[in-house]
Amino acid sequence: MPTRRTLLKAAAVAPVLSQLPLARKAFADAPTAPGIVKPLPGEYFTVRGTNAEANFAALADTGPLTPADRFFVRNHTTTPRLDASDWKLTVWGDGLHRRSPVTFTYGQLRSLPSVTRTAVLECAGNGRSLFTAQQGETVTGTSWTYGAIGAARWRGVRLRDVLHRAGIASDAVAVMPRGLDDEYVTGGVNLGRVRRPLPAAKALDDVILAYEMNGEPLPYDHGHPVRVIAPSWIGIASVKWLGDLQVSASPLASPWTTDYYRLFGAAYPPGGSEPLTRQTLKSGFHLPYGAVLDAGATHRLTGRAWSAYAPVHRVDVSTDGGTRWRRAELLDAPRRGGWVRFTTPWHPRRTGPVTLLSRTTDASGRTQPERTVHNTQGYLFDAVVRHAVTVV
Ligand code: MTE
Repeated sequence: MPTRRTLLKAAAVAPVLSQLPLARKAFADAPTAPGIVKPLPGEYFTVRGTNAEANFAALADTGPLTPADRFFVRNHTTTPRLDASDWKLTVWGDGLHRRSPVTFTYGQLRSLPSVTRTAVLECAGNGRSLFTAQQGETVTGTSWTYGAIGAARWRGVRLRDVLHRAGIASDAVAVMPRGLDDEYVTGGVNLGRVRRPLPAAKALDDVILAYEMNGEPLPYDHGHPVRVIAPSWIGIASVKWLGDLQVSASPLASPWTTDYYRLFGAAYPPGGSEPLTRQTLKSGFHLPYGAVLDAGATHRLTGRAWSAYAPVHRVDVSTDGGTRWRRAELLDAPRRGGWVRFTTPWHPRRTGPVTLLSRTTDASGRTQPERTVHNTQGYLFDAVVRHAVTVV
């Protein structure tokens, strides 16, 4: 008979086991995408190249945490099916005292003190298609609408603890996590494995090496067995399928800081902005674009709002294209790093097209602007979304 220990071990190395309860109808015969392991039912996901966007409107039936089976997937290549039992993490570089690499097995990592933290994970390009749809501007990259985002409860070890055990030196300035997925080739150029440096100050602050998502071992698509979670930073900072960490006494760069994930365009210096770090603030309704609603009925509009800077302070809603605004009710306690659901009743009397708007203001005083300054790669769209619906 298996002991509790062997069962726990099996659960830790086999995310598929933990996905069995998800064999509900929608997931049973759902399509998958090339390179993505989990089922992607059409009502919950839109496949975009190697990625799967969550249907933002459909998140209405989820709570503050996004279930793993509903979480967006952003893959540069394909999900590798890694086995925790032969996984190891190598920490190396001239930012270590002894300069010789230090390795951690999965078991060694799990034996370190653990931390659990709720954090929103959002791609820097979330909302990108709105640069074109709403502002008439051209941008490059995956045409996400609003669903390159989710929130989960991550459990793992502090990166700080791992770095201290590996002997990080006081003059270390950068830590670069690198994934074990395939090398990324684009436009005939091999950019190597996905990697992006973190300043030492961030690495030693709140970054986690996570092995659990919402109380289950990380699913394959979300970085099994271990990924980085860099709270409040753009999604690329949260490297999945972590294989090694370069610790450096001099600044590091990668194509993900030089060519991508900085702002280029007329409003920015010729070489672009500094590499992007923090995400921004947004809000949106749990309604499909172009939704049709009945006149003469009371509708409970719901949505969610978030900010990477501070807890959400208030959400204002307009049901007349932005002339009048009223404060929505918040359904969750605002917290740093989380999102809140909001609701407001709406009783449309007249038929015809209507533009709904929602606007987040956070506790740092930041408010969503009317327009986002254009950048050629369409990052950090934070403008108030003009959500077209029709009343019939
Ligand atoms: N890490 C690796 N190794 N490979 C990747 O393709 N994509 C990044 C990041 N980490 C990526 C990665 C990007 S751009 C985002 S937005 C997040 O992972 C997405 O995480 P998710 O797929 O778990 O939602």
